[in-house]
Amino acid sequence: MDDYINQLIHGRVHVSPKRLIQPGPSLEQKLQILHAAKAAPDHGRHTPWHFYEVSESSRTLLGDVFRDCLLDRDPLATPLQLDEAREKAFRGPLLLLAAANLNDTEDGITPHEKMISLGCAIQNILLMAHALGFGAGLSSGKAIQSERFRELFKLSTNTMPTCFITIGTVSKNKPGNALRPDLSVYHSIF
Ligand SMILES: Cc1cc2nc3c(=O)[nH]c(=O)nc-3n(C[C@H](O)[C@H](O)[C@H](O)COP(=O)(O)O)c2cc1C
Repeated sequence: MDDYINQLIHGRVHVSPKRLIQPGPSLEQKLQILHAAKAAPDHGRHTPWHFYEVSESSRTLLGDVFRDCLLDRDPLATPLQLDEAREKAFRGPLLLLAAANLNDTEDGITPHEKMISLGCAIQNILLMAHALGFGAGLSSGKAIQSERFRELFKLSTNTMPTCFITIGTVSKNKPGNALRPDLSVYHSIF
């Protein structure tokens, strides 16, 4: 049991979306992964987060937004760079956009608490994916903060897109151990 828990928590590592390939989670596995989010601590039980699954048919639209956002930032971007930006929308069998829902400002729960709840929900998703044998990675990028991006996902003013979660089979493992901070860096006795 101890070994399992240690492997589950300490064995999870970030896998770049480039290295996540088919097969992705089955429908049953995908639901298991998504259901893990709701076990996150959530002060007031307002579900201050949302996960948008990018369907296969929507990846083209997302890719166009990635490309257009790069052009906005760098009008001199080369065709190759624009293709690379577009291609990011097609990585990984399961692609989720994680967003914080900060709409309800009268509920007495601070945006910080809501962001923490989102982080916990994301971690639950990562751990469930790992437990099922999949790799997963988080990616943000500049486009996610753009108006084009908000329009594509029809995000309300107080919805904060935070990162993508890509889940799939790991094509090849990267050698080396994950970098983790020493306990003394983040713990002290008060
Ligand atoms: C919200 C969020 C967004 C992230 N976005 C990126 C990203 O765009 N690109 C990247 O290489 N790592 C990104 N990371 C970091 C990786 O997910 C990962 O945590 C980091 O590389 C450390 O690896 P580890 O999780 O295996 O310890 C992000 C992490 C978080 C929490």
